[in-house]
Formats: sequence, C-alpha cells, structure tokens
Amino acid sequence: MKLYSGACERNQPHIAAVLKNVFDAPGLILEIASGTGMHAAYFANRLPHLQWQPSDVQDQALDSICAWHAESDRKNFLAPVRIDAAADDWELSDVPRPIQGIFNANMIHIAPWEATCGLLRGAGRHLVAGAALVTYGPYRFQGRMSESNEQFHASLQSQNAQWGVRDVESIIEQAKPEGLSLSECHAMPANNHLLVFRKQPMLTA
Ligand SMILES: C[S@@+](CC[C@H](N)C(=O)[O-])C[C@H]1O[C@@H](n2cnc3c(N)ncnc32)[C@H](O)[C@@H]1O
Repeated sequence: MKLYSGACERNQPHIAAVLKNVFDAPGLILEIASGTGMHAAYFANRLPHLQWQPSDVQDQALDSICAWHAESDRKNFLAPVRIDAAADDWELSDVPRPIQGIFNANMIHIAPWEATCGLLRGAGRHLVAGAALVTYGPYRFQGRMSESNEQFHASLQSQNAQWGVRDVESIIEQAKPEGLSLSECHAMPANNHLLVFRKQPMLTA
C-alpha cells in the first residue's frame, strides 16, 4: 500500500528549500497529484507553518498517501482527497479554505495536456490573489532541453502519445487567461525546474 519513490527522496530537500520562501506565510497548500504521499509527509514535517492537503486521482496513489498519513504524527498533514486536475470543477468540499498555495510535482509531462489546462484553470479559480501555484518537473525552454530529458520525452511518448515534456512557453500562455503569471523559475538538480506562477489580483472596471 505504502509506495516509495527514490526520486522524491532525492528531490524533496531541494524543493523544500525553495518552498520555504515561496510559501512563507501560514496557510493551506493544496497538492495536486501527490503520488506516493512522500512529498506531503516531508513538506508537512519541514514546513510546519503550512497545512498540507494532498490529493490524487488514482486509487493506488490515494491508498499510499493514506498509509504515509497514518504513519505521520504531523497534524498539519491532512488526509488525502480525490481530485482530478483535468476536471472542469474540482471536488473541494473536504478541503479547508482559503487555499493559500497549490503544489504540483511531476504530473504535467506524464498526463494529457488537459491535466495541465485543468491545473491552471483550478489554480486561477481557487487561489487567493497573490498566492502561488508551484510546478516542478522537466520542461523544454525555447525548444531546447537536456539530452537526458530528450530521451525521457521519447520514452514518455512511446508509452502514451499524449504524454511528454512540455514547453514552458505553452504553459505560460495557457496560464495567462487564468490570471496567472510566471514570477520565478528555479533550476533544480537532475535537469528539473521549479516554476512559480502568481495569481494576479482581479481587475475592476
Ligand atoms: C509521476 S507521478 C508524480 C507523483 C508525485 N507528485 C511525485 O513527484 O513523486 C504522477 C502522478 O500524477 C497523477 N495524475 C495523473 N493525472 C492526474 C490528474 N488528471 N489529476 C490528478 N492527478 C493526476 C498520477 O496519479 C500520479 O500519482
């Protein structure tokens, strides 16, 4: 039931070091596509000023997050909820409000583009003004990426033609109508990047 990821083990201290500054105020962070639940357990422990709300769409992931949750003594590690990032309307009835931040690691390239569109739409709709959507994973910049990410992209596409490493520029364009703009881009180990999108305040006439 309890899944383990070596990649999570390696990347979590580096991600936490950035999240500490991005999610600097106390509040609830909604994690979309939590996978094993390891990140949720780690970040709830390392960032105790945050309430960490994990979620995923798959039963196997939800079972694993529940197992990590059951083992944790952190009150700020909340029980997981089922959210499909691609859904028109996210099911948030069990999620405490307001949502002060959204975190998403390693989903954008391993799901159809509709999941990215849904992630951006949901963030635009549910984040408070000024709050951050953080995404982490491999990306292509101006048509370029590392040799290892090129190989990863080819292997993703051979598994599912709808998967693949995305262009950062496409994500930025897709984010604009949702009221989100890219404010930070951090180079991370293993040719990954961490992107921070900020929800802009609503313009009034
Ligand atoms: C490669 S795993 C990454 C898990 C974790 N965030 C990590 O970094 O280790 C991708 C995750 O995305 C989830 N996922 C894929 N499509 C999704 C969707 N439409 N909505 C929510 N989660 C999704 C999968 O269930 C899986 O847990």
